[in-house]
Amino acid sequence: MDDFSYAHRDTSEIGAKGTARFNVPRIPSALEDVRRAAFAREIPVAGDETLAFLMTQTAACGANKILELGTAVGTTAIAMACACPNAKIITVERDENFYKEALANFKKCGVSERVEAVCGDAGEIIAELDGTFDFIFMDCAKVQYIKYLPRLKQLLARGGVLAADDVLLYGWASGEAEVPKKRKMLAQHIEEYLYAVSHDSELLTCVLKVGDGIALSVKTN
Ligand SMILES: C[S@@+](CC[C@H](N)C(=O)[O-])C[C@H]1O[C@@H](n2cnc3c(N)ncnc32)[C@H](O)[C@@H]1O
Repeated sequence: MDDFSYAHRDTSEIGAKGTARFNVPRIPSALEDVRRAAFAREIPVAGDETLAFLMTQTAACGANKILELGTAVGTTAIAMACACPNAKIITVERDENFYKEALANFKKCGVSERVEAVCGDAGEIIAELDGTFDFIFMDCAKVQYIKYLPRLKQLLARGGVLAADDVLLYGWASGEAEVPKKRKMLAQHIEEYLYAVSHDSELLTCVLKVGDGIALSVKTN
C-alpha cells in the first residue's frame, strides 16, 4: 500500500446503500482498468456513486471548460472527459508521481488531447489561471476549501457549477460521527466552507449525500 501524507479513507461504501445498484458509471474498459489498479493500491479515487454523479452533472450542464483540483491518477478527469466529449479539462495535482501516472492514464484512455495535467499546488495554480470554467470539481486538501473559495468564485462562469467533494467528512460534518481530536481543525474548516457556500448571495448550494458528501454550488450572478 502507498504511503499518503494526508488523511484519507475508503468511502466507497458510505451513503451508497440503497442506490449502489443503479449508480454504476458507464465507463470505457481502459478507465475500469485504471480504477481497479488505483483501488488495489488504496489510492483515494472516487467511488462509483461519486463518479456517476460527476458524469451526469458535467453532461447536464454541458460543460465545455472544466477545472479539477486533485487529480490523483486521473480517474475523475477521465470520466468527466468521457461524459463531455467536447470539453477541455485542466486538472491540478501536487504529487509528482501521481501527476506522471495521470499523464500515462490520460494517454491510455485516449483523452490526453483534451485533458491538461498541471503539477503544482492548487492554491498557486488557481491564482494564475485565466478565463472562466463551467464546472469546477474540488477534490484536494479539504482544509483548503474555504481558502480557495473566493478565487474559485471568480473562476466560475455565470451559471457555472462548483462541486466540493467529501464535505461530510465521514459523518463528522453532519454530526453523525464524533470528530476525532486531531481532526477538529479540518472539521471546522469544512463547516466554514459549508456555511460560506450556503449563505453566499451569489451562489445557490445544495449539500448532497453522494459518496462522502458533495456540496454543489451554482453561481447565479
Ligand atoms: C482524493 S484525491 C483525488 C482523487 C481524484 N479526483 C479521483 O477521484 O480520481 C486528492 C488528491 O489531491 C492532491 N492534493 C491535495 N492537496 C493538494 C493541493 N493543495 N494542490 C494540488 N493537489 C493536491 C493529493 O495529492 C491527492 O492526489
